[in-house]
Amino acid sequence: MCKILKVLLFIMAVVIFAFSSGCKTEEIHYGVLGKSIGPYWEVVKKGAEDAGKELNVKVMVFLPQKEDIPKQVETVETWISMGFKGMAIAPSDPEALVSPINSAMERNIPILTIDTDSPNSNRICYIGTDNYTAGKIAGEKMAEILRGQGKVAIATGSLTAMNSIERMKGFRDAIKEYPEIEIIKPILCDNEETSKAVELAEIAILNNPDLDAFFGVYVFNGPSAAKAVESAGKEGEIHIVSFDVTDEHLKLINEGLIDATIAQKQYMMGYEGVKIIHKINKNGLESTLDSLPKNEDGDYIIDTGVEVVTKENLEEYLELMDKWGVEHTFQL
Ligand code: BGC
Repeated sequence: MCKILKVLLFIMAVVIFAFSSGCKTEEIHYGVLGKSIGPYWEVVKKGAEDAGKELNVKVMVFLPQKEDIPKQVETVETWISMGFKGMAIAPSDPEALVSPINSAMERNIPILTIDTDSPNSNRICYIGTDNYTAGKIAGEKMAEILRGQGKVAIATGSLTAMNSIERMKGFRDAIKEYPEIEIIKPILCDNEETSKAVELAEIAILNNPDLDAFFGVYVFNGPSAAKAVESAGKEGEIHIVSFDVTDEHLKLINEGLIDATIAQKQYMMGYEGVKIIHKINKNGLESTLDSLPKNEDGDYIIDTGVEVVTKENLEEYLELMDKWGVEHTFQL
């Protein structure tokens, strides 16, 4: 009898423990706010969710349909009122997000920026690509491909997000060294609508019969330009330097339609974003900041780095993707 009672008490204790730790998990919610749906952000989402599983916390990832500044502001405000304990945000407009970021920080909700920054806000740190440098790398690659001469169109998904602005600035600064390369106007901006991206690239080819290249700033732009180049029958004549890696990019690089792409490490943006928010909540802000890299202005920036992928190093890059556990259906 006494034995049965002991067993019962043990079972009850296990149930109570499981229930109470279950409740604890429910209490911690972190939010990750991206800029749009699509293959690039799926990888960020996976990184954030993997970190959430490791830490046993709930991570909600929200991706607007396309670049949508009011929706981002509304999402941060909603998450504040829902009592989220931290957020990693990719602002579609650095200034428009200052007020919601600061109001979260005033309520002791730690906010980090990932992928694209809002440096005038009180965010704690930025985790992502050094976009100016990455844009410069793209510009240098373009100049090499064009042998210092030609007409280039720039296509992007945003004219407000800081990463897009910085990439274009870095690109232009690199191109300045080559007076015989002309960047045509206007910038082709699709607000991350793929069909519009293709249409704009087609119009640019029609209006500029002597166009030599596209610089694709966002994930859709390289493949969209490739579609336009193909339908104009100008394969090999119009070059493409793009950003990001999807299966489509890998295939187009292999086919020679995309000459080079700047691959970002967006899995780490989601993964590290959640990990650092959690560290702040567990160990406090000061001790977390001590473990983060600080630049000469005293700002906390985690540069996740980039790789330049071309047909020459495609095989090595696929091996790297396998090593990192990044899924791809494209095989050589
Ligand atoms: C990324 C891009 C990506 C885009 C798509 C950006 O913020 O850095 O490279 O293509 O989001 O939404």
